[in-house]
Amino acid sequence: MASSSSILETLEAANIEVPYQCREGFCGACRAKLIEGQTQYANEPLAFVRDGEILLCCSRPTSHIKIELP
Ligand code: FES
Repeated sequence: MASSSSILETLEAANIEVPYQCREGFCGACRAKLIEGQTQYANEPLAFVRDGEILLCCSRPTSHIKIELP
């Protein structure tokens, strides 16, 4: 089921500490590895991400996902 919160918000709600700064897709501080599943961005972020990485602050899961935090 698609969630309306960002992955960052979901992790925070679960008391999982995640690095972040801008929360808007600019800085790249919230970069994490997407191990399994799919996510989507509401707006294409400006920060650089490598293949297989996502920005937690501005992406939402579109499937069950597995991520690796930095
Ligand atoms: S917190 Fe800056 S890109 Fe996510």
